[in-house]
Amino acid sequence: MLLIFIGPPGAGKGTQSLRLCQRFSIPHLSTGDILRKAKSDGTELGKIVGPIMDSGGLVSDELMVEVVRERTTQTDCAEGYMLDGFPRSIPQASEFDKLLERRQQKLNAVIELHVPYDELRRRLIGRFHQLKDPRPEDQPEAIEKRLKLFEAITQPLRKYYTERNLLLTVDGIGTPDEVFERILQGLYRDT
Ligand code: AP5
Ligand code: MG
Repeated sequence: MLLIFIGPPGAGKGTQSLRLCQRFSIPHLSTGDILRKAKSDGTELGKIVGPIMDSGGLVSDELMVEVVRERTTQTDCAEGYMLDGFPRSIPQASEFDKLLERRQQKLNAVIELHVPYDELRRRLIGRFHQLKDPRPEDQPEAIEKRLKLFEAITQPLRKYYTERNLLLTVDGIGTPDEVFERILQGLYRDT
């Protein structure tokens, strides 16, 4: 099972990925989590990406493709995995396609969570206030930057994956359980 989660910041990708990964017994590969860990471990990667993430910017395509290439060669990915937060741009998607082709692997589905911008802002600001160790990228200016970048750089992936007949759009409003049920229904219908 090879799945991708796309969707704007705060759409619930992390929340839903964890449930899906449990259901399908596949590892959860969140590029945001990988980068945050690199940052807190103080690795070379972490030093490069830290300031970019904190301001709400996007890390370079070259670096992200390398991070994902390296992570997906690990043995726990042999039977499949779920990518959460990658690809986030057309160049990332096309490089990832080439990588899958070389490995003779195929994507099963790309799940997109649809949530209106006002609700996304509400969730991210809510998380900023809830966490004991809040994420710098959940400050108001960084949230706006992330939403703008999503619109400009990531949104074009909808067309890219629609053309490849892989996109499953799911309404992300409702309780996490309700959204999860919708995703499962969509996956069983389409794959
Ligand atoms: P990343 O960690 O991927 O952040 P993001 O995509 O901006 O989104 P979030 O993780 O904040 O939101 P989410 O959709 O996972 O929602 P969640 O479940 O947490 O990336 C961080 C940074 O790393 C990027 O900004 C960039 O700098 C860099 N990066 C990562 N990948 C990259 C790439 N490929 N290319 C370039 N740069 C990259 O939920 C959010 C909140 O809402 C939570 O509080 C949650 O409890 C709540 N919530 C969830 N579901 C519901 C619901 N149904 N109802 C009400 N509240 C809900
Ligand atoms: Mg997340």
